[in-house]
Amino acid sequence: MSTQGFSYSSRQLYCEKVALQSIAEEVGTPTYIYSSQAIRDNYKAYDQALAEIPHEIHYAVKANSSLAILALLAREGAGFDIVSGGELFRVLRAGGDPSKVVYSGVGKTLDEMEYALKNHIKVFQCESLQELEQLQLITRSMGVSTRVALRINPNIDAKTHPYIATGLSDHKFGISLDSAERIYLQAKQWAPLEFTGVSCHIGSQIFAMDVFEQALKQCLELSHRLLLQGVEIKSINLGGGLGVAYDPAEDNLSIHNYCDMLCNSLQGSGFRLGLEPGRSIVAQAGVLLTKVLYRKDSDSKRFAVVDGAMNDLLRPALYRAHHEIMQVKQTDDAGSTTDVVGPVCESGDFLATDRILPAVKSGDLLAVATAGAYGFVQSSNYNARPRAAEVLVENDQFRVIRKREDQEDLVRGESL
Ligand code: LLP
Repeated sequence: MSTQGFSYSSRQLYCEKVALQSIAEEVGTPTYIYSSQAIRDNYKAYDQALAEIPHEIHYAVKANSSLAILALLAREGAGFDIVSGGELFRVLRAGGDPSKVVYSGVGKTLDEMEYALKNHIKVFQCESLQELEQLQLITRSMGVSTRVALRINPNIDAKTHPYIATGLSDHKFGISLDSAERIYLQAKQWAPLEFTGVSCHIGSQIFAMDVFEQALKQCLELSHRLLLQGVEIKSINLGGGLGVAYDPAEDNLSIHNYCDMLCNSLQGSGFRLGLEPGRSIVAQAGVLLTKVLYRKDSDSKRFAVVDGAMNDLLRPALYRAHHEIMQVKQTDDAGSTTDVVGPVCESGDFLATDRILPAVKSGDLLAVATAGAYGFVQSSNYNARPRAAEVLVENDQFRVIRKREDQEDLVRGESL
């Protein structure tokens, strides 16, 4: 399964009870479409599967930071994992609770730290000695204190795409176990910073359960050692990373099995668990709806030239990521090998290559599946293309949660 909340009825693709065709008619294309039910279900799947241990789920804002989606998750009780002042601004604007915000990232600026401190976020997850020094200076000068977790780098190969693996010692992320332990043991000299947690995030789109187990084991062992030496660690945050299927022939790494493993390992430990899932909450709940402009048969293959492009969905070009292509109106054509490409002037501008797709004609609608995570957030105005609209579906209703950019938006803030 590669989508959630999307299904066919009478050969028409629906999101919940809304036909994608009707969204295209009213809102145009390209448009991101999300199922609110699917997003809620995924959040609740984590929350319920972890019910037997003390836990907090901090949705990773970077996966999809549209205000309406943040607001939907905030209403479910979610906390948020942020990596910039801009993400904190979005969370606050969406009505998120700053006391449930964890702040990750290797390059927090002074202004960003100040902004997060003023808003009393829950914890800074620090990734270097210099970052700690800067945070200490600014807390002292503001006369405030804050909670800190060190992000450890456990030197574990997450067995995922190299661009999104973060747990090896030659990655820029985290602090080695030994160095982290030394820092924790000097806790007193770091006042007014209070070391209350240990955190870790070894990568994204991970399918190997054993790598999560190894990372958790290292966090647990470190936390126990620290407790024995008087450092009052209260929580372990294991980051995000659960893999989702982009190909309908694959299976997700189930939220349920993952949480079972976490419960078994943490039950009775005395530590609260934190998680930062992004992709596994929103990826399958969204598609990019696009319209065929032209069909083009070259000597070697067929192209469907669509109005969505790499500036709208960068994942295929950047990671050679697979996204399933779904017809909005199913036809019986046996199909032929087709590349689905956009109007951007690069051969890297493709949404799918070498797919067996039924013959398309101008005006046909296609849905690029599993586009709810790292889709809109990675879009740009490359080739001076206005960014897509976004639509949120709730049962038999839909609403535009971001209007399509127009040409004035393209030059906003510029001067001659
Ligand atoms: N926590 C931290 C500290 C992270 O860096 C990330 C993702 C997450 C949580 C959420 O991980 P998730 O549950 O979504 O796997 N643009 C790439 C993905 C980059 C992920 C970056 N960090 C893509 O399109 O595949």
